Amino acid sequence: MRTVQIVFAVAGFASVASCSFWHGLTLSEAPSASAEKPLRSDIELTEAKWTAAEADILYILTKEPAECLAPASDKETQYLIDVGRTAFNSPFLLGGQAARARLTCNSCHRRGGDNPDFFIAGLSSKPGTADVTSSIFSKIREDGEFNPVAIPNLIDSAAKSSFGSHGVSAELNAAPESMLSLRAPGKGSLELQAFIASAITDEFQGVPPPQSVLDGLVAYVAHLKSDECASDNVDRTLSADVARIAGMIDAAIESVERGERDTASLLVLTAQNKFVDIYERYNIDGLLDQRNVILDRAQQLAKLRPKVAARKEKIEIELAAFLASLDQFARYLESSSEHSLYNKGVLIELLGLEETEESI
Ligand code: HEC
Repeated sequence: MRTVQIVFAVAGFASVASCSFWHGLTLSEAPSASAEKPLRSDIELTEAKWTAAEADILYILTKEPAECLAPASDKETQYLIDVGRTAFNSPFLLGGQAARARLTCNSCHRRGGDNPDFFIAGLSSKPGTADVTSSIFSKIREDGEFNPVAIPNLIDSAAKSSFGSHGVSAELNAAPESMLSLRAPGKGSLELQAFIASAITDEFQGVPPPQSVLDGLVAYVAHLKSDECASDNVDRTLSADVARIAGMIDAAIESVERGERDTASLLVLTAQNKFVDIYERYNIDGLLDQRNVILDRAQQLAKLRPKVAARKEKIEIELAAFLASLDQFARYLESSSEHSLYNKGVLIELLGLEETEESI
């Protein structure tokens, strides 16, 4: 088996530029299909890593809950929601172990909901639970006990005034004073902000994120409302993944224009990493050209990020050009998506899911 290394830069945020490091993600190049061995354990799809063995993996890889996101009341809030939405899907918000696994808020709170199929050995007692005081992710919160709790649904949660099973006061005490602000007003928002800030730094040992990112997460979670749920589930598609990358870059351009370079840098890095999801779906025989194009796009973005961080003039124009090029990229990949792992038939055939119905 040949292995391709894609190297993504993971920078520390904000003033902690010295805290940057490199981190390699290994993607497997699949060998040719074998009729005797229907289950292709060499095919890696990130989210399958934390999906319980008994879950309906085919369903999870082809469908996802619709996002129940209320519209923003004004432009400022819209910006915060856009930033928060990207951050919610960013592995770089969380510390080392979680980031390396490509774990995000969304992995546990799928599209802002719960995740009844989430399972990581050592962290979960049964599917849908996680021990948020485990040393796997953080030495700070570790309590030496295996005490997983159910992952809560965050939709409509902002109406609450206390978060988590420890209650808000403990979280408020734990959150660094400087991370709290009232930029996203509303009932419970300070408590919500304190909870999220503490989750990032204490639970996952992440670096304190830029203020707009924290405000963005609060705004995003506060706008998850059950009245906005159009349908139960939507299809997982290439176009949805490309649209997500586009949304991330769009938000990054606005961050640059606002002079919030650290936020912009995180958004660009997250967009760059999001290409891995697409790569994984094309990581099968016969799609080498497509993979090269995907890698090329990710590398193009990787070249722009240091310029964002270095506050290079007119970088927003380069980002906008990249954004514009995504249409053609999507069209090119779309023409072969029926042969990729976006196609349910290919998933069934290559992963042997019909026969085993187990996780890969
Ligand atoms: C490994 C899974 C996991 C990840 C990743 C995760 N959470 Fe959670 N989250 C949980 C669990 C479990 C709880 C319940 C904790 C408790 O009861 O103390 C929770 C609780 C919460 C709550 C409180 C909800 C309530 O109703 O009290 C919020 C808000 C929240 N998480 C937001 C986030 C955000 C934002 C991120 C990303 C920065 C995140 N979570 C990442 C598992 C996770």
